[in-house]
Amino acid sequence: MLRRSQVAKLLIRIDIISGVPQTFESVLGASILKRAAEAGLAEVVVHNLHDYGLGRYKQVDDAPCGGGAGMILRPEPIFDCIEKLTEEREYDEVLFPTPDGAMFTQGMANELSMKKNLIILCGHYRGVDQRVRDHLVTREISIGDYVLTGGELPALVITDAIIRLLPGAIGDSESALGDSFQTGLLDTPWYTKPAEYRGMNVPEVLLSGDHAKIAAWREEQAFEKTKVRRPDLLDEEM
Ligand code: ADE
Repeated sequence: MLRRSQVAKLLIRIDIISGVPQTFESVLGASILKRAAEAGLAEVVVHNLHDYGLGRYKQVDDAPCGGGAGMILRPEPIFDCIEKLTEEREYDEVLFPTPDGAMFTQGMANELSMKKNLIILCGHYRGVDQRVRDHLVTREISIGDYVLTGGELPALVITDAIIRLLPGAIGDSESALGDSFQTGLLDTPWYTKPAEYRGMNVPEVLLSGDHAKIAAWREEQAFEKTKVRRPDLLDEEM
């Protein structure tokens, strides 16, 4: 982990466009995301879509053409915001979190963590004008088969999954590589002190000091857990 005084090379910049930018304050202002920003590894900039809104009331949405319930984000504020950003720098991708996108996976997080500049466009209300999706968005991503009220939480999920992979972002450089899904297996159980707590004991092998035996035990545990909980991950391997 880089110390506060160390200045790292900026590895990624993520621009998030949202109609509710205050959603991001607490998460970006805490934990690994904050430390990665302070260390200069990653820069996350949130843009208020209402700054590009139309008219006196800075309108960003409107009723769907052809009728229907709910409001749709209008194209003009989004085009204006993204055009302003792309005048300043070149972006690798414009991501759009949506339940009908491609499922977000560790592989996708790995791939995106190697990009330099990303935009994440958060939809809200019922959706976003299709012309935005057709002409600006390069990748549509779902974080799961359920519907959230907007793209803000998925944008944070994607940002967190990317930034924690950056070299130096988390304490132990090995720990991100050992994560569930990186290895193709779910994580092994972990224990810390005390060795005995209320009659519950840490498995003997972990106290043995025999590193080969410990590694074999962990692999076995990870494999067994994967077999029971996510056999689909084992099928993918074959
Ligand atoms: N927006 C609303 N629900 C979502 C989901 N499940 N994944 C990504 N974006 C979303």
